[in-house]
Amino acid sequence: MGAAVETPSMPEECRVIDPDTYFDHNRPPANLQWAHDAVAAFVGRQGSSRPIVLVTSGGTTVPLENNTVRFVDNFSAGTRGSASAEQFLELGYAVLFLYREQSLQPFSRQYSQRSECIFDYLRPDGHGGVSVKAEYTAKMLDGLTKYEKYKPQLLQVAFTTLSDYLFLLREITLILAPTGARTMLYLAAAVSDFFIPSHSMAEHKIQSGAGALTLRMNQVPKFLRPLVKNWAPSCFVVSFKLETDPELLAPKAKHALEKYGHHVVVANLLNTRKWQVWLVTRGQDPCLLQISQEQLLQGHDIEQDIVAELARRHREYTSAGALANASA
Ligand code: PMT
Repeated sequence: MGAAVETPSMPEECRVIDPDTYFDHNRPPANLQWAHDAVAAFVGRQGSSRPIVLVTSGGTTVPLENNTVRFVDNFSAGTRGSASAEQFLELGYAVLFLYREQSLQPFSRQYSQRSECIFDYLRPDGHGGVSVKAEYTAKMLDGLTKYEKYKPQLLQVAFTTLSDYLFLLREITLILAPTGARTMLYLAAAVSDFFIPSHSMAEHKIQSGAGALTLRMNQVPKFLRPLVKNWAPSCFVVSFKLETDPELLAPKAKHALEKYGHHVVVANLLNTRKWQVWLVTRGQDPCLLQISQEQLLQGHDIEQDIVAELARRHREYTSAGALANASA
């Protein structure tokens, strides 16, 4: 039981660091095989020219017990990911949506983040059925119409824990790798940097009898490195950088680009992320994308601007790859 409190007997190779070692020492999610089959079939249905994007969304949990009663979580509701997935669909992408179970989903997100209950949108229709209240009808019909239209181009795969997420991310990017430059990896999920390896975790609920709890958590290996270098080296990779200290944001975003060698970092601050982001690319000044408070109140999501700009850059990347292949 003390194992989740201290991890003195943990093998040295698991203290960090090598991503492969992580997979050897942690349990895959129950939906891994299902996800493999579903993603392979989905990608196979897209033909050879439709652009594909993997959108990751929401936050990972870090369990404290193998029979999990308690876990460490983070703030992300999945707004960025779900709103971005809608925009990619509207631009003609096939969207793989790797999302935190019970976080926001494309098209239904407006109806799951509010304090109202589902019944607040409905009324009895007087004939033994229910209908949508008049004031919500137009917006709901618009969402439903889009949802029905884009459903064939959308595959949703759910994760809960950090470990689920990492296994699924590797599995999906390996399947996407052969699609090369026409695929974008848009990594908006808020991924924990710390975890307790499953063999070091308490098996059962940690008891309170021993007094205060001291947690020792290992650092999660940086998965962006193998993802860019080995798993999907030809895909267009966009990572996100979240900070709370404005002084750290630009240097850390630039550092990530240099360290991992991918294409774009979308840098955002916790408190302003809904109206202000910077697209950071090697060799260029950061590009500020910003919307006004008025636009925000009118329902304009900044994801429209982020996705439009990234899709434009992705097209350039794909065309450059095609040109290089043609002249080789
Ligand atoms: O969901 P919302 O409420 O709308 O919030 C959106 C958001 C703020 C979560 C989103 O815009 C965002 O910034 N997501 C990334 C947050 C994050 O995890 O940042 P990070 O600094 O911990 O990681 C940076 C990048 O490194 C991430 O793209 C991640 O894919 C990658 N990473 C992180 C940890 C790790 N062990 N390996 C990684 O490769």
